[in-house]
Amino acid sequence: MTPTKKIMRSLAGEKMPVPPIWMMRQAGRYLPEYRATRAQAGDFLSLCYNSDLAAEVTLQPIRRYGFDAAILFADILLLPQALGADLWFVTGEGPRLSTITTLDDMNSLKPAEDIHEILSPIYDTVSILSRELPSDTTLIGFAGAPWTVATYMIAGRGTPNQGPAHALKVEAPELFDALIDRITEATILYLGRQIEAGAEVVKLFDSWAGSLKGDDFDRYSLEPCRRVISALKARFPDTPIIAFPREAGPRYEGFAKATGADCVALDNSVDSAWAAQHVQSDGCVQGNLAPWHMVTGGDALVAETRAICKAFSGGPHIFNLGHGITPDADPANVELMIETVRTPV
Ligand code: CP3
Repeated sequence: MTPTKKIMRSLAGEKMPVPPIWMMRQAGRYLPEYRATRAQAGDFLSLCYNSDLAAEVTLQPIRRYGFDAAILFADILLLPQALGADLWFVTGEGPRLSTITTLDDMNSLKPAEDIHEILSPIYDTVSILSRELPSDTTLIGFAGAPWTVATYMIAGRGTPNQGPAHALKVEAPELFDALIDRITEATILYLGRQIEAGAEVVKLFDSWAGSLKGDDFDRYSLEPCRRVISALKARFPDTPIIAFPREAGPRYEGFAKATGADCVALDNSVDSAWAAQHVQSDGCVQGNLAPWHMVTGGDALVAETRAICKAFSGGPHIFNLGHGITPDADPANVELMIETVRTPV
């Protein structure tokens, strides 16, 4: 069946006259209505686990801007929490987790199939959204890719160079591989439930793929993504999958083919002319405006948005930022970006 929703058409490989658009972190602190709902929930994690309020913040940017896709409001770190890690957020600093560095830590984690009890509110959020979203808006579910999730579970926090994860990979390879395997199995189950609840597309965020080089990139970014994607494709052949190996640089080339992803999301360090030639040649690409344009706006935003649309105009493209919008962004600049994409010159 030929899809009718714009995002689904791009993901099926169709070149659209105007690229469909959504934005990473589109439900976030730059929006006053998000901040109000988050205050009502109490804190960020309470918001993630409150299905009604999580659905509400997912819908807010759709109402305000009419994006072509909504992304489930949740976080990649809910999965480690469901596996038994402690998780909390320190205001102004970011996430903290109990660490996995020994065999005892690893053995204290739950089996992958036990994640659903904690994550069931997330599946409820997906169900609410699949009922309430406008009929032309695509619902995207997501999870972190195994390497990225492992970097947080090993270090217990975000790290500038993922040093603790790289160290464990060298010092205790069996433990490291066991952790990657557990996350991979859990991710397959988690995304499977999101799809069953109504997610039409799923996205894998490998935010720290860029710190893996050579064979390590193949083993710990590409291969776990390939495993997740092939397991999902076996059960849900019609559900498109977007992979985001952020800062993979030249390794973006061939990533879709090697993993089975329908689309790769490009970060803003990637040159769009290069990506059109080397990545879009294999299928749909998503991206890749630098998020700081949402802070600065003006002619630079318009010029760069047009340049990206032009560079990718020869094939399937979903317009997006190269990474999440930041809290200091001006909501009016988001409007300007959308208007620029939707008004071809
Ligand atoms: O709108 C959306 O994109 C959907 C929801 C979403 C969130 N996080 C909500 C969120 C998605 C898809 C994510 C993914 C996520 N979470 C990633 C991968 C993408 C990326 O940014 O590279 C990562 C690495 C995380 C982990 C995480 N969550 C960190 C490091 C932080 C703290 C940094 C920050 O921005 O505060 C979060 C918190 C978080 N996740 C917020 C939101 C809206 C801000 C929390 C708040 O409201 O205080």
